[in-house]
Amino acid sequence: MNDVVDLLAAHRSVRRFKSDPIPEADLHAAVRAGQQAATSSNIQAYAAIRITDSTVRERLVSLTGGQEKVAACPLFLAICGDVRRHRLLAARAEVPHASNLEGFMLAVIDATLFAQNMVVAFESMGYGTCYIGGLRNDLAGLHEVLGTPEGVWPLFGLCVGVPDQETSVRPRIGPEAVLFDDVYPDDDAVFAAVDDYDRVIADWYRANGIKTPDWSSRIRKHFEELHRTGSSAWYRKAGASFE
Ligand SMILES: Cc1cc2nc3c(=O)[nH]c(=O)nc-3n(C[C@H](O)[C@H](O)[C@H](O)COP(=O)(O)O)c2cc1C
Repeated sequence: MNDVVDLLAAHRSVRRFKSDPIPEADLHAAVRAGQQAATSSNIQAYAAIRITDSTVRERLVSLTGGQEKVAACPLFLAICGDVRRHRLLAARAEVPHASNLEGFMLAVIDATLFAQNMVVAFESMGYGTCYIGGLRNDLAGLHEVLGTPEGVWPLFGLCVGVPDQETSVRPRIGPEAVLFDDVYPDDDAVFAAVDDYDRVIADWYRANGIKTPDWSSRIRKHFEELHRTGSSAWYRKAGASFE
């Protein structure tokens, strides 16, 4: 359709990188693109912490559940929701800074749009990326490493570098399963779309040597139990509210 849509449709996560460093100009161009994402009421509630220290990177490998790419990629960013500057502004003016679930969600949404714009910018320059949700595996341990102040909430990591692997685009569920007219469809329609997708993704898993029968079984297993149950307590400690 056009170059931007083609780029977006060609996205795939990259988990092995060449060691070529990323020029500062490329990083700054991506950050500027990230910052130009829409942001709720222009609050710009995000930050990216670049981890350059190799010892810290190694520590992050274990904190993210043994994800070696976190140390091996040339650029690793910890993406955070950040209301620190808003709080400091309020404190300096001696006015209250109100905080509830809405404030947390604004920061998460803003930071995610910021990160995704960066991803698109990096991919447009020929780099590969991989988000790292494993950054939330042990938020207390992560805090020991990053020392983020109150009001800064690490959300996920981002590996960036020149790809050192061939990867194929992972198919998604059909658009009819995510775009509806006027009303949400009935459960039969939901099942029909999922069953179609299971057939497509099963072929992709087989072709890519992934030993999962289909998407349904993967999703059932993923949600059989809770993950990262310490997150709400840690984010609260870091100044978030879920009221
Ligand atoms: C918020 C978020 C967290 C993720 N965390 C990880 C992770 O910790 N490790 C990893 O290898 N991939 C991670 N991924 C990548 C997803 O597994 C990947 O995007 C998904 O399987 C779809 O594949 P694709 O990106 O190649 O299309 C994450 C993606 C997102 C959006």
